[in-house]
Amino acid sequence: MNEERTQTRARLLRALPKIELHVHLQGSVQPQTALELARKNGIELPPCESPQELYAYDTLDAFLAVYSILAEAIVETEDFHRITYEMLGSAAGNGARHVEFFASFCAHPKVPYGRQFDGIRAGMRDALRDYGITSAIIPGINREEGPEAAATYLDQILKYRDDDLIGVGLDYFEAPFPPEPFAPVYERARKAGLRLTAHAGEAGPASFVEASLDQLGVERIDHGYNIVDDAALLERCRDSGILFTCCPSTTTYTTPHKDLRAASHPIRRMNEAGLTLCLNSDDPPMFHTDLANEYLRAVEELGFSAADIERTIYNTIDHAWVDDSTRRTWRSEWQPLISEGIEALRQIDG
Ligand code: ADE
Ligand code: ZN
Repeated sequence: MNEERTQTRARLLRALPKIELHVHLQGSVQPQTALELARKNGIELPPCESPQELYAYDTLDAFLAVYSILAEAIVETEDFHRITYEMLGSAAGNGARHVEFFASFCAHPKVPYGRQFDGIRAGMRDALRDYGITSAIIPGINREEGPEAAATYLDQILKYRDDDLIGVGLDYFEAPFPPEPFAPVYERARKAGLRLTAHAGEAGPASFVEASLDQLGVERIDHGYNIVDDAALLERCRDSGILFTCCPSTTTYTTPHKDLRAASHPIRRMNEAGLTLCLNSDDPPMFHTDLANEYLRAVEELGFSAADIERTIYNTIDHAWVDDSTRRTWRSEWQPLISEGIEALRQIDG
């Protein structure tokens, strides 16, 4: 009976129209694709018996080490096309209609940025044609490389500016790399018309969330879990309605919060505290998940009600970096489907 209920929930959640605001292109490479690209490009991956075995870690830095090795296997324009097309195809299969994704251009030091952009944009175009899914690029700044490298990175990125390049993010290993030194580069990105977000409070303290808001001027916080340690900041964020892009499965790999059912799990607490949040997949194959499964885990393990799920979907519509006419169209076109799916979810629990 429980199994049947889970399957019904999974089917309903998958069918809901969704937006993904926190997924990394290089973290979305399917294991089989990684092995094939590595073989084709003559890149040696760590020895492993099966593709899945590559994707095993339980801390953020161990995960990032594998992320960096995998990125080396992506070399040619057609490789960037393939991983983008596969990521968006998978998102579409999970009910996503629009994806704003991080791309780590700096993870391929031997590949010119122009080639990376060409392949990624070709993948986006083909995914739009074949799956009807729209998408946009958020170049991720590698905080480990420091603010000077970040400034050069921004210069490079701006050379390839187009309407689909919508913002910048800050990622990689957080704890020893606070946000403040990146303030000048964020200021420059803002003046260039880019939208701003940053990973904060995943492996770093609540003060990194505060500094991302106050020093970097971000409009969204990626993860943000350690905000639960600072009641005043939590209240401030609840009142200002800043969006937190949460990723349930990620917490079980990169943070000490391995049990989504625990009353102390930060996403549960953030939801109960009334923060504005949404659900995302981060690095789906690398965390053995997909977008619809993140919604299922939110319901079955983090205690999200049908109303919470409905709210998270509308939060993504409200906070996507699109023009208001697109937002209005999404709201009116998706509303019947969302209402029907949410009502059916409510029925399951009687
Ligand atoms: N890059 C890809 N996934 C990440 C995460 N969860 N934290 C920091 N950097 C990342
Ligand atoms: Zn992330």
